[in-house]
Amino acid sequence: MSRPQETAIYTHGHHESVLRSHTWRTAANSAAYLLGSLKPHMKILDIGCGPGTITADLAELVPQGHVTGVDQAPGILEQARATATQRGLDNVDFAVADVHALDFPDDTFCVVHAHQVLQHVGDPVQALREMRRVTKPTGFIAVRDSDYAAMTWYPASRGMDEWLDLYRRVARANGGEPDAGRRLKSWALRAGLTDVTATSSTWTFSTPEERAWWSGLWADRTLASAYAERATEGGHATPEQLRAVSEAWREWGRREDGWFSVLHAEILCRKDV
Ligand SMILES: C[S@@+](CC[C@H](N)C(=O)[O-])C[C@H]1O[C@@H](n2cnc3c(N)ncnc32)[C@H](O)[C@@H]1O
Repeated sequence: MSRPQETAIYTHGHHESVLRSHTWRTAANSAAYLLGSLKPHMKILDIGCGPGTITADLAELVPQGHVTGVDQAPGILEQARATATQRGLDNVDFAVADVHALDFPDDTFCVVHAHQVLQHVGDPVQALREMRRVTKPTGFIAVRDSDYAAMTWYPASRGMDEWLDLYRRVARANGGEPDAGRRLKSWALRAGLTDVTATSSTWTFSTPEERAWWSGLWADRTLASAYAERATEGGHATPEQLRAVSEAWREWGRREDGWFSVLHAEILCRKDV
């Protein structure tokens, strides 16, 4: 059955094994390409903010400004609010919103940001049109997404190859595009953005601590998250196959010579006057 164009199921869900990764994220490790453009007074919209650690960092970087974090999942916003409160921030608020149809007037924000969101939405070009609409003239639209097919690791492992193949099939069945990174610039141009700077950056996991953390969260996600449920319910994998993929992750994590790189594409777009 085909899905209406703009609806997609968020593949990962917000299981603890997923949030282990999201809550590790900072403006420095996930939005460095944007930071040089921020000014203390700016008004920022952070779309698909999840648990809000990047949102809170952005709020600290605009002490005379304001950040609004939005997400389509109401539950995760409670955690985002708690993060902001724990950090003593009074220039941030949160609301439920779908990026395809934002409930904000035209020309509202100096910066509209989305990290690891467009890969999960049903119509990323419409999402970028909305992001552009709510950005002030000369303001910035900033987007960063990973590209699963471009992720690479050592040593080679059939189980890890199966993980990548399975993840990409499940994400596409949910209406998303797991290889979003390479498409960001094209989507931006199709959305009518003309001033587009495209860059890329990586996360690397190599030390014993990094390998234990990265392999552990993927091994657990493969058995217990929404992605695991959708993999079996959608007929993409059996529970035995998921256990084998999970064990492949743990094996990789135990390898002293293990190395993993996550490629991300970034676009920093300036809205025309
Ligand atoms: C991979 S998480 C990224 C969270 C955060 N930006 C970060 O990098 O830590 C993607 C988030 O986008 C949200 N999301 C998915 N589709 C959305 C949509 N159509 N509109 C708004 N948020 C959406 C999900 O609920 C989830 O919290």
